[in-house]
Amino acid sequence: MKSLILYCSTYKSHTEKIAELFSKKINADLLNLKNSKNIMIDEYDFIGFGSGVYKESMAPQIFKCVDKLNLMNKDVFVFSTSGVGMRYYNMKLIKLLEAKGARCKGSFACKGSFVSRDFSDNKIFEFSTLSN
Ligand SMILES: Cc1cc2nc3c(=O)[nH]c(=O)nc-3n(C[C@H](O)[C@H](O)[C@H](O)COP(=O)(O)O)c2cc1C
Repeated sequence: MKSLILYCSTYKSHTEKIAELFSKKINADLLNLKNSKNIMIDEYDFIGFGSGVYKESMAPQIFKCVDKLNLMNKDVFVFSTSGVGMRYYNMKLIKLLEAKGARCKGSFACKGSFVSRDFSDNKIFEFSTLSN
């Protein structure tokens, strides 16, 4: 089985670190979306999609990339890093992947770094920071 991990990590490389760990663990090829224009996935059976969370969403680049791919009957998984580390952020991408015919085999999320004032006016993040 051939595996690939595609990721977008634009802030502090938190997601990149997770992508590298996963790729070592499952012996997957690794592709940073920043450096990749034409992505060929035909030869892969299992594909991971990872992104940091920016303004309450995974990166637009990862959605644009998924939009262009033929994912019919591919096994996939989704991962993200964010300030709060919630798997909830993966849901939108999972829905898109499933709408394109992929089978989602897993969803993983963990905390990256969190400086709430850097990125959100939403008070819920202030509370989350205080309770950490
Ligand atoms: C512009 C910006 C917006 C962010 N928005 C959120 C957010 O809405 N929710 C959250 O939990 N974390 C948020 N974060 C924190 C990042 O998701 C977190 O640091 C993540 O690990 C970044 O991944 P990266 O280093 O791979 O880019 C934001 C960070 C930045 C820079």
